[in-house]
Amino acid sequence: MNIRLAPSILAADFAALGAAIEAAERGGADYIHVDVMDGHFVPNLTVGPPVVRSLKRVATVPLDVHLMIADPDRYAAAFVEAGAAMLSVHVEGLPHLNRTLAHIKELGAKAGVAVNPSTPLLMLEEVATVLDYVLVMSVNPGFGGQAFLPSSASKIRRLREMLDRAGNPAPIEVDGGIDLDTVGCVVEAGADILVAGSCIFHAPDIAAAARALRAAAGQAAAARHGASPR
Ligand code: DX5
Ligand code: ZN
Repeated sequence: MNIRLAPSILAADFAALGAAIEAAERGGADYIHVDVMDGHFVPNLTVGPPVVRSLKRVATVPLDVHLMIADPDRYAAAFVEAGAAMLSVHVEGLPHLNRTLAHIKELGAKAGVAVNPSTPLLMLEEVATVLDYVLVMSVNPGFGGQAFLPSSASKIRRLREMLDRAGNPAPIEVDGGIDLDTVGCVVEAGADILVAGSCIFHAPDIAAAARALRAAAGQAAAARHGASPR
């Protein structure tokens, strides 16, 4: 499976999101990652459907929308209508995850499940056959620019085993603290989609930073496939 890059615009200049997206796409972005925070599920506030709708007008790659909000069921339709092609919801605090995932799929988007660092993978066991992708948080959600939690690598490895056991080739997305130093270990562990905010948008040349991250990921992926073909 090819490694895909999903630059997170949380670290971009919000007054110039169009230019940030254009630069990220020039650097090889496969998706644009949009972090939605409501000040309840996480202690921070970001953007809602109107901003997603505007981003959809300028992005040529699919929008990967990460909902860090208290009541995702209530807003899923609005985000898909606004242009989300991928929509991830956090397993923590969703009492009817199966129904939520079915709802997102009915809306026509890929349904992803996000897990916080302290959340056990056991929470995914019963939906492992139906989810379209899993987003593994490698920092506590809420803010960009945090340090990568090293325990995430073994979690990705165990998750890959769980999905393979379930017969689901769903990709694993990793989010938080991904940069040139950490990308190797998550790709080797089995990550397929890399979210990166500060490492790309705080760089002086956004496109070059995206390209460098992709190149480092490609090297690690080659090592991974060399070690254990799958
Ligand atoms: C954190 C967000 C991340 C964040 C990643 O809650 O989900 O997507 O933007 O930013 P970096 O790459 O700076 O850790
Ligand atoms: Zn995110």
